[in-house]
Amino acid sequence: MNKRILGIFITLCLLVFSFQAVAFAAETQAKPNIVILATGGTIAGAGVTSTTTVGYTAAVTPVDKLISNVPELTKVANVSGEQVAQIASESMTMDIWLTLAKRVNQLLAQDNVDGIVITHGTDTLEETAYFLDLVVKSDKPVVLVGSMRPGTAMSADGPLNLYRAVILAGTKEAVGKGVMVMLNDTINAGREVTKTITDRVDTFQAPIIGALGVFTGDKPVFYRQSLRKNTTATEFDVTNLTTLPRVDIVYHYAGNAGTMIDAAVHADAKGIVHAGTGDGSIGKAEYPAIENALKKGVVVVRSARVGSGIIARNGEADDDKYGFIASDNLNPQKARILLMLALTKTNDVKEIQRMFWEY
Ligand code: SIN
Repeated sequence: MNKRILGIFITLCLLVFSFQAVAFAAETQAKPNIVILATGGTIAGAGVTSTTTVGYTAAVTPVDKLISNVPELTKVANVSGEQVAQIASESMTMDIWLTLAKRVNQLLAQDNVDGIVITHGTDTLEETAYFLDLVVKSDKPVVLVGSMRPGTAMSADGPLNLYRAVILAGTKEAVGKGVMVMLNDTINAGREVTKTITDRVDTFQAPIIGALGVFTGDKPVFYRQSLRKNTTATEFDVTNLTTLPRVDIVYHYAGNAGTMIDAAVHADAKGIVHAGTGDGSIGKAEYPAIENALKKGVVVVRSARVGSGIIARNGEADDDKYGFIASDNLNPQKARILLMLALTKTNDVKEIQRMFWEY
């Protein structure tokens, strides 16, 4: 090869290389930057065989493996991962919530982060979602995702759920929608969604209200938005919080005489969420224990064990007379979260009732 041909060859190689470098840089820039914060759960779970869908071990697969198991993620986002916890979500703690919320706020304050996906067990996923909905200080998308079958199962739902959660977190339409939950092709609001079935992939529903949107193929389609204040519009701030006030949930049932209310007061609860029957009813035999709790300064919220519907203020109990707070349509586990955060601000029951109407 003479020198001229060699020169042309080298120039062509350099041109091809620089075209490829420019194309790669353009592709990387065009894709959203999504951080996956992993906390464990069934989505990181493993069973003994491919047919093991109960009795598997949750929270074993590390975040790097969760990401590398879905190579398609690199086509839709620049993804990085962090392991915040590795637990089955029934063991979620307030410490982990505070760590998670602070990390989410840190990351979303960075210009090079467009959205966050949190992998989570399904048992308390709705609680973490609502907690974050109230304390995240950014409009950027935050999406919680889990799965009902471990990654080792035939027809595992985790990989597709994760793939779609990452797409959702990088979608412009998801900005300003509050903290969302994505499983089974369905996008729900963190405030409204609840786990309704113990063992099915269509377990996450928002009773009466319905989903925010759905996926059609790889495209999220929104149909509505939650009207309750969330994220940047709330008055709650975890920056300086190292703990949350103790709030217990007390479940009502036929024959209940308030023993658990006494136990909560004895354990120094600052608040009690009463999971009443029907429209948040309190049994006659519970009143002495409730009145004792109120006298000791414990704030009492009336919610219902029913699973959906609004608690009518001054309906099944004289809320004004006793100083109860009606939980609106928050189920007991969500009412507890709002009450914990409310108690970081005030003990005034009128103010706390206002928060329950607003959030
Ligand atoms: C858990 O909540 O960690 C276990 C159950 C699940 O993720 O589905």
